[in-house]
Amino acid sequence: MTQDDMKRAAAREAVNHLSEGDIVGVGTGSTANYFIEELAIWGAAAGAVASSEATASRLRDCGISVLDLNEVGRFGVYVDGADEINHKLEMIKGGGGALTREKIVAAVSQKFICVVDENKVVDVLGAFPLPVEVVPMASVQVARVITSLGGKPELRKGFLTDNGNVILDIHGLNIKNAVELEHQLNNIVGVVTNGIFANRPADVMVVGTGDGVLVVKR
Ligand code: A5P
Repeated sequence: MTQDDMKRAAAREAVNHLSEGDIVGVGTGSTANYFIEELAIWGAAAGAVASSEATASRLRDCGISVLDLNEVGRFGVYVDGADEINHKLEMIKGGGGALTREKIVAAVSQKFICVVDENKVVDVLGAFPLPVEVVPMASVQVARVITSLGGKPELRKGFLTDNGNVILDIHGLNIKNAVELEHQLNNIVGVVTNGIFANRPADVMVVGTGDGVLVVKR
């Protein structure tokens, strides 16, 4: 089984956690793209809230109506991938740069289902460089503060987020207290948000493995 097979299997299983007529929040990335295909095949969602422009366009291409979060209010389920997820279902996200909108949509949903392949499950978060979305004029200052905290920030070259901001990827972290570090980084002036999803972790982790799909609830 390839990594893509495992992603697709996890995405397919996530559809079993939906109910007819649900409004579904949809994440960004290759696993989320598989989920969009499965959602289109299922065909029973009332509509979707997108976590990025790329996801919105893919949803429309698949015939799924895209709803404005401000007009929807709270909804049931958010389905998204992750770059890393630990056993408390805390995650690092933002490899695709969509972390801020992902965090917003996740915050509004009642249930967060994280769909990953087995390579994304880790004991300690931080081997994957942590993305931080930063207002462009503050990038050097924010990088300086992050360096003083022990991280090694690197500007993601030639990349702007859907919100017109830049991304600093922080290398060299070994995240023992994800809840605290999420708060600490978000408190740096100029940071829009960071890719630790620990204060609002996933509720369900669906893992595609070589031996089938594993469902873990928090
Ligand atoms: C997008 O910004 C990310 O948060 C993705 O959810 C994450 O990078 C996982 O992507 P893949 O499903 O492509 O591995």
